[in-house]
Amino acid sequence: MRDESLHPCNDQVPIISVRNLGTRFGRNWVLRNLDLEIERGEMVALVGGSGSGKTTLLRQIDGLLIPTEGEVRIFGESLFGGGILRERAIRRRFGVLFQQGALFSALNVYDNVAFPLRELKLLDEGMIHDLVMLKLAMVELLPQHAALMPAELSGGMIKRVSLARALALEPELLLLDEPTAGLDPDRSDSFVRLICGLGAELGLTVVFVTHDLDTLAALATKVAVLAEQRILAYGALREVMQMDHPFIHNFFHSERAARALNAAALTTKA
Ligand SMILES: Nc1ncnc2c1ncn2[C@@H]1O[C@H](COP(=O)(O)OP(=O)(O)OP(=O)(O)O)[C@@H](O)[C@H]1O
Ligand SMILES: [Mg+2]
Repeated sequence: MRDESLHPCNDQVPIISVRNLGTRFGRNWVLRNLDLEIERGEMVALVGGSGSGKTTLLRQIDGLLIPTEGEVRIFGESLFGGGILRERAIRRRFGVLFQQGALFSALNVYDNVAFPLRELKLLDEGMIHDLVMLKLAMVELLPQHAALMPAELSGGMIKRVSLARALALEPELLLLDEPTAGLDPDRSDSFVRLICGLGAELGLTVVFVTHDLDTLAALATKVAVLAEQRILAYGALREVMQMDHPFIHNFFHSERAARALNAAALTTKA
């Protein structure tokens, strides 16, 4: 019988619900007994040490990996088990920005952004053109950038094109794996402003992995800490910071962290 509390049309349903998730590669359990529930409208920063399993968790949420144990629901539904059409319909509702950008290197910017629109097989080339140019403008790229190949782009531009592609199908949910890694502070700030603006304008829920406290402090409404194979803490930054755990201590209470968090607090008050 269907559980009504999980019905996809019910706005109260968590946008992401992960229960008792376990992921094993060979003999190595990367995630174990992991639970996480994310409500619509949150901007969630996922933090954890390098190799702790953040990318793995995102890949479980976006269905690139099948759980070894447990269950992942997105918009109240499992991606698998309902047939390929059902899976495609769910996939259209979220966009992903991969850790390495992952643009198709043989396609120019235009064709990269057009790719998910063409896959839909519902739009003619004129409509696709208008949508691609709109998405490029949304991420503050110029029309002449459309003809460039990925190898001709700077790191910041690759992130923007990846974001434009992730936004192509007007998703409700964005999963961003280290969106500001490798950007200089100015570019990183402008990328954060962009995500913040788009989030508010489009009513998006965003889950983003970051090692960068400036990005976290500027964007996050909630913080999820991944350590010891599970989500050790999930809540507002202030609550999470109070937990007594070595990772949390090192991440949030170093001198560098204090500077970033103080600067963010000053900016918010200004
Ligand atoms: N496909 C795979 N096969 C085997 N092991 C894997 C695979 N993918 C990830 N792992 C292992 O899982 C662990 C977690 O990797 P993951 O990429 O999720 O970490 P991360 O938290 O995203 O790290 P980083 O901050 O460096 O990006 C690592 O030990 C990694 O070697
Ligand atoms: Mg990673």
